[in-house]
Amino acid sequence: ELYKEKESLYIALSFARDFFVKNLRTEEGRSIGLSYFKERGFTQQIIEKFDLGYALEGWDHLLTAGKEAGFSEDVMLKAGLILQSESDANRKYDRFRGRVTFTIHNVGGKPIGFGARILKKDKNQPKYINSPETPVYHKSDVLYGMFQAKQAIRNTGNCYLVEGYTDVVSLHLSGIENVVASSGTSLTEGQIKLIKRFADQVTVLYDGDPAGIKASLRGIDLLLEGGLNVKAVVFPEGEDPDSYSQKVGSEAFAAYLEEKSRNFIGFKIDLYRDEMESDPLKKANLIKEVVQSISKIPDPILRSVFSKEAAGLLEIGEDILFTELNKSLLQNQ
Ligand code: UTP
Ligand code: MN
Ligand code: MN
Ligand code: MN
Ligand code: MN
Repeated sequence: ELYKEKESLYIALSFARDFFVKNLRTEEGRSIGLSYFKERGFTQQIIEKFDLGYALEGWDHLLTAGKEAGFSEDVMLKAGLILQSESDANRKYDRFRGRVTFTIHNVGGKPIGFGARILKKDKNQPKYINSPETPVYHKSDVLYGMFQAKQAIRNTGNCYLVEGYTDVVSLHLSGIENVVASSGTSLTEGQIKLIKRFADQVTVLYDGDPAGIKASLRGIDLLLEGGLNVKAVVFPEGEDPDSYSQKVGSEAFAAYLEEKSRNFIGFKIDLYRDEMESDPLKKANLIKEVVQSISKIPDPILRSVFSKEAAGLLEIGEDILFTELNKSLLQNQ
């Protein structure tokens, strides 16, 4: 029974994907949706690769088309495609309206949900509306773009981790295909397991704003705990991988990644370098933070290797660093 329910949700979600994709060819879709994508530099090829689409303005375009195609309201509700009106028990309406759509696929390539972006800034509406949790979309086990990225992640042994849908799409445009997005939420164990099926290294490319840096720090520790080799890059203030790659072009972007990639120790040192030089307390703090991260690494040999590297970079005795590390390890237990 459960299997049958999931199957019907997959079919409804594929129908919705086709519907949104086809909408890009309507007059409204061309003048609003397609022109939005074109303005962002998205090509026809990349639009097709990612099943990008457009949800028409109006309350029930998908609902009506879905019913005509034989889907029950119940299935469309469970798939997260439509919503129940609170004031009128008989009324349902489309969840995604007047927005461009990003299809979320599972690793096998089946549509399992959507992220839908608003076209113009509007303080009263969220920038993205996303599918809810459903029987086929367990957000904590999904990374946006994994279907399109998995082969490249295997081939390179590295997975770039970005925040957003458009970061994934823009990196593909600049020739970088080993990239997935955490979709603005904090990384989960399930997502880390998913990455580990394909690679043992992650390079974190979060937005160059305080929220992005904070999320990087949290993500790095989780990835280290998962036994992954972790690198990170900081982008200039206000830039994210999408905006920066579009601004400087693919060659300069690739060079930037190459030049600015740091392991977690270098990343933290870079972050605090300025304040550290003038304030010994800040330096002590940094040492503790680096040790905290090292203590998350499951492999004792790797812990020891990184401890030595950290002692050198931070210009502090290895013995002191090891003592701190042992304290952290005890605290983690
Ligand atoms: P950002 O605010 O950085 O958006 O959120 P973005 O990806 O750079 O999008 P553009 O370039 O402005 O179009 C990062 C990610 O967080 C999630 C989305 O997955 C988004 O891609 N998010 C953000 C939401 O789910 N809802 C929101 O309202 C905002
Ligand atoms: Mn669930
Ligand atoms: Mn951001
Ligand atoms: Mn962003
Ligand atoms: Mn962006």
